[in-house]
Amino acid sequence: MTVVVIVGSQWGDEGKGKLTHYLGPQFDLVVRFQGGSNAGHTVKTGGETYRFNLLPSAILYCEHTCLMADGMVVNLTRLLSEIKFLQERGLWGDNLRIGSHAHLVMPYHIFLEELEEERLGGRAIGTTKQGIGPCYADKAARLGIQVGDLLHPPALKERLATAVEFKNALIRGVYNRDETYSVDKIYDELMRAGETIGPLVVSSVEMVRGYIDEGRAVLCEGAQGALLDIDYGTYPFVTSSHTVAAGACLGTGISVNDITKVIGVSKAYTTRVGNGAFPSELTGEIGDHLREKGLEYGTTTGRPRRCGWLDLVLLRYTLKIHGCTELALTKIDVLDGLETVKVVNAYRRNGDVLTATEVSNEQLSQCEPVYEEFDGWGGPVSGLRAEEDLPPQLAQFVDFIEREVGVPVRMLSLGPDHDETIWRTPKLKQ
Ligand code: IMP
Repeated sequence: MTVVVIVGSQWGDEGKGKLTHYLGPQFDLVVRFQGGSNAGHTVKTGGETYRFNLLPSAILYCEHTCLMADGMVVNLTRLLSEIKFLQERGLWGDNLRIGSHAHLVMPYHIFLEELEEERLGGRAIGTTKQGIGPCYADKAARLGIQVGDLLHPPALKERLATAVEFKNALIRGVYNRDETYSVDKIYDELMRAGETIGPLVVSSVEMVRGYIDEGRAVLCEGAQGALLDIDYGTYPFVTSSHTVAAGACLGTGISVNDITKVIGVSKAYTTRVGNGAFPSELTGEIGDHLREKGLEYGTTTGRPRRCGWLDLVLLRYTLKIHGCTELALTKIDVLDGLETVKVVNAYRRNGDVLTATEVSNEQLSQCEPVYEEFDGWGGPVSGLRAEEDLPPQLAQFVDFIEREVGVPVRMLSLGPDHDETIWRTPKLKQ
């Protein structure tokens, strides 16, 4: 039995898509288990670049089944357009299934999020405006509509009427706006989408359990990163789902005992989109250099990402919370040519030097980074294919990271393409 979970170990955008796509062929089932169209993964393959927000990146392997499991929130309009994109290119293999308990992102979720971010002004979260927070909030408030409801129209209409009545009152009463939503209009749109989506609806639990019981290999693909986890991230500047590896259990119904490997993914530096504490942020020339060279602009929103050095205090924390058995280090080539490369290995706060801290927005806002410096390795490194060929400065940088975080570093990504990858023999054994 093999159940591998791939998760982001920073604030998202670590390059999980490349790893998932790389490993995808070894698996029988690839599952997304949380989040929705706030995620954006870019996959480069065969000279083409594909961008998806909802579909698991392994969807391009038509022979593999992909599941959007119960922990996700699904915007049907976006999903239909991603399916159409694949159909038009002859890449649609009818290999997608959707968990019946996944929740639907409604037009009023997106509108209410816009209104709320506007109301917050300078205190805004800086969300992707995909309606993710309001949708998960409705799930917890038991006001949500599930994908499986598409198969039960009368019950769906009744639940929709309850939700819409409340949302219209909220829009009028709290936000003082005249826009209203019509139950009939949303219902008709859902029924139309249901014609395509209905046949894809399955029980996540039964599907994933079936694969595991038959001894087939399952890959669970996380979206966002651990520092955006609703409970373990930099609250309130987080997303609204469980982005830590345990989210794979909550979002699919598999048991914690089923998981055989957890791969954490981290860039060789750090990025963050949206607001909130970021101790190693670089606002000057080097930050700009990382953004331009690393093409650090949001896949979903196009927003410039904030950039900074790799933060090992945070990485130690996220790898522990995930329970990572190995680490993949990505976008190493972006650091090519720098004279000096730094990593944060401790913080200074109120005169104390800390190698670990509680991860809260308030605590991190008061931390001043303590850096380790490394000589740059020149480059370019993207053409290297063997561990022995790594410049000694880069090998030393990777060894240091591995030693300090206490997790074996296996994959080194030296560029976006598949072959720009080195599988390293870790010095640290687990
Ligand atoms: P939301 O998920 O749209 O509610 O946004 C909440 C926070 O998570 C914001 O700071 C977003 O920028 C961030 N976020 C959400 N999805 C991603 C992602 O895929 N990559 C990076 N940041 C993300």
